[in-house]
Amino acid sequence: MSTKSKKRIWGDFTGNDLTNIETKTIVAQGVEIAFQSGHQSIQVLKNINLEIQRGDIEILMGPSGSGKTTLLSILAGLLTPDQGKVYLLGEEITKMSRNQLAQFRRENIGFIFQNFNLFPALTAAENVEVVLNLKGFRGEKAKQQSQILLEQVGLFLQAHQKPSDLSGGQKQRVAIARALAGHPRIIMADEPTAALDSQSGHKVIELLRRLAKEEGCTVLMVTHDPRILDVADRVTYLEDGILKETENQDIHKTS
Ligand SMILES: Nc1ncnc2c1ncn2[C@@H]1O[C@H](COP(=O)(O)OP(=O)(O)OP(=O)(O)O)[C@@H](O)[C@H]1O
Ligand SMILES: [Mg+2]
Repeated sequence: MSTKSKKRIWGDFTGNDLTNIETKTIVAQGVEIAFQSGHQSIQVLKNINLEIQRGDIEILMGPSGSGKTTLLSILAGLLTPDQGKVYLLGEEITKMSRNQLAQFRRENIGFIFQNFNLFPALTAAENVEVVLNLKGFRGEKAKQQSQILLEQVGLFLQAHQKPSDLSGGQKQRVAIARALAGHPRIIMADEPTAALDSQSGHKVIELLRRLAKEEGCTVLMVTHDPRILDVADRVTYLEDGILKETENQDIHKTS
């Protein structure tokens, strides 16, 4: 079966079994969050239910301000929802302590932030090494791994440059190399190819596809990039705080 014909669209996906949480890599049940804006409370996410299987590439789309980054942050345990539960790899992260959560994230999740979140004073290689150190790689081993990761994203020559000397696309690729450090079982990415030219974008998409399909890594991505739709197993659409049923055609129109 080709990747394309296997693609499932939110709403067409049947056979969900919310009780069988252990077999799903990412599960959200009844997730809600509101933000205060002046005297007003804005309900950004309303009763979000989601299940993602191991090795799947799931795309999250939706208009600017619809809550995609907020949802991704909640699913990664970076933000606590007002209501609802999140399970990752069968464990409920919404009831973990701050320390447990930090350790769980370190061991299992690679997160690519929309604004890259690089350390400005460190070189590209050091930015990757810092994460590798947190994951237990030390000294020469961390240096070697960092070189391999930077090479994978096509940044071998820029390894010793600082973020201020890198282009937007190069910074994005450092952020990707960093997220892949230590082989996380889950990768969450916020617009990972937005700043990339066609060639590097293609390279990153192929890298994510390989991690998912050959190494069983589960990938959840926010993107408007139509190239990524080709490797996606499922596309979900967030609007007005809920995940809506969407036709494939509509998704292509919004990208
Ligand atoms: N910490 C916060 N405090 C108050 N409001 C917030 C906070 N974070 C997000 N919001 C609001 O929640 C809404 C959703 O924001 P979010 O960043 O999740 O949107 P998005 O879909 O990722 O948008 P974009 O496509 O532009 O990145 C916006 O109205 C935003 O202003
Ligand atoms: Mg966003």
